[in-house]
Amino acid sequence: MTTKEKLVIFDTTLRDGEQSPGASMTKDEKLRIAKVLEKMNVDVIEAGFAVSSQGDFDAVKLIANTVRDSRICSLSRAMTGDIERAGEALRGANAGRIHTFIATSPIHMKYKLQMEPDEVLAQAVGAVKTARDLMDDVEFSLEDASRTDFDFMCRVTEAVIAAGARTINFPDTVGYSAPGEYGSMIQRLLNRVPNADQAVFSVHCHNDLGLAVANSLSAVQNGARQVECTINGLGERAGNASLEELVMAIRTRQDLYPVETAIDPSHIVPISRLVSSITGFPVQPNKAIVGANAFAHESGIHQDGILKMRETYEIMKAEDVGWSTNKLSLGKLSGRAALAARLEDLGISFDSKEDFNQTFRRFKDLADKKREIFDEDLQALVSDVQMGTEDEALTLVNLEVLSKSGQLPHAKLTIRYQDQNHDAEASGDGAVDAIFNAIEKLIKSDTELQLYSVNAVTQGTDSQGDVTVRLEKDGRIINGQGADTDILVASANAYLHALTLMRNPGRLHPQLGGV
Ligand code: KIV
Ligand code: ZN
Repeated sequence: MTTKEKLVIFDTTLRDGEQSPGASMTKDEKLRIAKVLEKMNVDVIEAGFAVSSQGDFDAVKLIANTVRDSRICSLSRAMTGDIERAGEALRGANAGRIHTFIATSPIHMKYKLQMEPDEVLAQAVGAVKTARDLMDDVEFSLEDASRTDFDFMCRVTEAVIAAGARTINFPDTVGYSAPGEYGSMIQRLLNRVPNADQAVFSVHCHNDLGLAVANSLSAVQNGARQVECTINGLGERAGNASLEELVMAIRTRQDLYPVETAIDPSHIVPISRLVSSITGFPVQPNKAIVGANAFAHESGIHQDGILKMRETYEIMKAEDVGWSTNKLSLGKLSGRAALAARLEDLGISFDSKEDFNQTFRRFKDLADKKREIFDEDLQALVSDVQMGTEDEALTLVNLEVLSKSGQLPHAKLTIRYQDQNHDAEASGDGAVDAIFNAIEKLIKSDTELQLYSVNAVTQGTDSQGDVTVRLEKDGRIINGQGADTDILVASANAYLHALTLMRNPGRLHPQLGGV
């Protein structure tokens, strides 16, 4: 029997994932995701970029103070102010990590940083030393490593390890690498850097050419022992390597990979849905592991094979990754204990009794409108309840829509904010347009509607509609979500959710120059 080495799973859904245009999350939403990541045994959770905004700082701090079993990390540029802010946000963590970085490729150094290589090297070493004064666990990333001169990459790596960094990350920042090349880069680095044995070598791959997972796996075969990844492959531009694909590739091909992870895969589908419902980024049906069709068999030959012997066409078990076979979960007669138990199975917990009580009331309302309630319904319902618990949330109190053929639809609504109810009414080119016009009469947000989409949460005409609204203002893009059996209510909620998120100030982007 061969002994496997541990592969560290570093999840950056809450940091790089949140850099996807529109994927902004509130601190409570981030905490909900972090709690499931902890439950599934993710080793390191990158909770945000503390210096980028007060909201990010608060989210990192909240997660650091709450999550006990995973290490909590904050990103920081190689600047003293950033590093100190990260250290402050992480003060309450059971196990914390400061992740500092600077770009090392010729193109980034010359045009973005406008610095000479020796200056970059000195700044990297200084940043690691500053971070080590605050925390034992320091990670250093050479941004755009895959386009960095190899000799310079070796010099920087050796120097930051000597300065005290314990994880060195070599990002394929622009998704440029190919698997063979990237794996061999890691192997050559491990062979060349004299103090390589004092650090874990990590990879962070972007998916611009659809190769993020392949590149990461090639690096693992060549000695990388940490992979940075996100749920559903969320992330800047085309996204990052997807956690579920990496974990299941390693688990399924134990004959091939010399490593194992601590991840409990049964949380994969629930967390994929949670992230999708919070961010408003739907999962494509044919997405590996978590897409609706990932375990569906259409052709008669395949179905026949599966019935005779499952392994003829299935290399993984749907139940292992948390597919609940879409079975009936709860109904009208289910009580509080049954709801609490099912939510717990889905990885959903509540900070207060009032949050649970509110969820229970919404569950009963939903059960009056919808005969069968599935896990997907519960997830949508909890997302909706928790959206309304943010301090500054705009909430829908009442909605009436009059839609008669030959007449312009008219909406009358009441929304609550700053502890008061406010009424408005307006007409529009359609019922949804009338609702949005009425909301705008009150809020005057000056935003532009970029996208409006409705998806059914489950099958059937009584399914909840899951609405995504994307708003843009001054270059900032925000997605809002709403779910209800009445799609007009879901639309109003999604619009209000986006406006609530828009009220949070914008964040500094980590990869801006400014070092
Ligand atoms: O893609 C990248 O290079 C990053 C670094 C900041 C780690 O996200
Ligand atoms: Zn990245």
